[in-house]
Amino acid sequence: MSEPARPLQDRQAVRAGGVDPVLAVQDLRVWYGTEAGPVRAVDGVSFDLFPGETLGLVGESGSGKTTLGRGVLGLLPDAASVDGVVQYDGRNLVRAKPKELQRLRGPDLGMIFQEPLTRLNPLLRVSEHFEEALRTHEPKAPRTEIRERAIETLRAMGIPPTRYRAYPHEFSGGMRQRIMIALALVLRPSFIVADEPTTALDVLVEAQIISILADLRQNFDTSLLFITHNLGIVAEACDRVAVMYAGRIVEQGPVAEVFASPQHPYTQALLGSTISLKTTGLQYIPGAPPDLITPPAGCRFHPRCPHAMSVCAEQFPRPVYTEPQVVECWLHGPRDLIPPGGTEPLQREELSVADEA
Ligand SMILES: Nc1ncnc2c1ncn2[C@@H]1O[C@H](COP(=O)(O)OP(=O)(O)O)[C@@H](O)[C@H]1O
Ligand SMILES: [Mg+2]
Repeated sequence: MSEPARPLQDRQAVRAGGVDPVLAVQDLRVWYGTEAGPVRAVDGVSFDLFPGETLGLVGESGSGKTTLGRGVLGLLPDAASVDGVVQYDGRNLVRAKPKELQRLRGPDLGMIFQEPLTRLNPLLRVSEHFEEALRTHEPKAPRTEIRERAIETLRAMGIPPTRYRAYPHEFSGGMRQRIMIALALVLRPSFIVADEPTTALDVLVEAQIISILADLRQNFDTSLLFITHNLGIVAEACDRVAVMYAGRIVEQGPVAEVFASPQHPYTQALLGSTISLKTTGLQYIPGAPPDLITPPAGCRFHPRCPHAMSVCAEQFPRPVYTEPQVVECWLHGPRDLIPPGGTEPLQREELSVADEA
C-alpha cells in the first residue's frame, strides 16, 4: 500500500484533470492561546477545493471544523494564531493584510453562518441589505442593476420579488437563511464557507435549503466548503468529503467512495453511527474526543480505535493515498515506516498505567 511520498496537492490536481484549485490549503495550523496552554484546534491540515465543487467537512463537535472554515477566510478571533498556506488567486491568505482580506470578502470569499437572525439587521429592509453589500464592493453599479441582480439571486433561493422590500422579521427562519445565502451569492464569490447553515432549522426547511445548495453547483460557479455534522447532507449535496478528527483531516475523497468504503476507522465508526440511527438507534463511538491542549501521542484516534496497533500510540500517521481516498492511518502504511513489532495490537493496560505514572 505504501508508495513514495508525493504531495497531496499534486495528486488531487492530477485527478481533477490538471484543473487548478480555487483554494489550496497546505499544512494549515490554528491555535488558541488559553491559560491552560495553546488549544491546537487545526493542526496541520491540507486540502484543495476545485472550481464549482462542494467539499463537505464533517466530524464530531470540537474537532476544529469552524476554526478551519474561519481560518481559511481570515475570520478568526484575536486570541488565535495561524500558520501555513491558504493559496488563493496567487496569494497566501494567511499572510494577507486585514485590508486586503476585507476587500476580498464578498466578491471573492463568502461565509454563510449558522444563525441568520443575528446577521441580518432588523432595522433594514432586505433590499437595503443587498444595496449595502453591492455598494460596498461595486460602488459604480447602477441602482437598477443592483435591484435586478438582488431580485434574481433571491428568486434562485425561492424568495419572490414581492418580498424585496420586507424586513427580516417578516420572514420565517428558513427564509431568512435563504436570504443570507442569497446575500453571500449576489457578489458571485468564487469560494464560500457555509458553517452548519441548517443546524438551527427544522428538518423540512433543512431539506429545502440542502436542495437549493445542491442546485448551486449547476447554477453558480461557486466552490463551497460545507461544514456539517450531518452525513446525510454530505451524501446529498457534496462532491467530496473531508473527515476531521481532533484538528486533523483523517480521510478525504469523493463522497461516493468514502461512503461505500471508508478507509479510516474513525470514518467507519462515524458512518456506522448514522446507519444505526435509522435501524437500531444511536450507536455512539465509545470514548470522548481528545483534549486539544494535550492530545494523545501518535494517532489522535488511537485511544478510541478498535484496530489500534502499537505504532499508532507512538508515531503520527502519514497521509497515504488509497485510491481514490487520502487517509492518515497506520493500517494503510506506509509499511516501511512502521518499526519492527509496530503492527502488534496495542496493549491498552500498559498505556493507562504509563499515563497515570
Ligand atoms: N475562541 C476560542 N478560544 C479557545 N478555544 C477555542 C476557541 N474557539 C474554539 N476553541 C476550541 O477549539 C476546538 C475546535 O473548536 P471548533 O473549531 O469550534 O470545532 P467544531 O466547529 O468542529 O465544533 C475546541 O476544542 C474548542 O473548544
Ligand atoms: Mg462548529
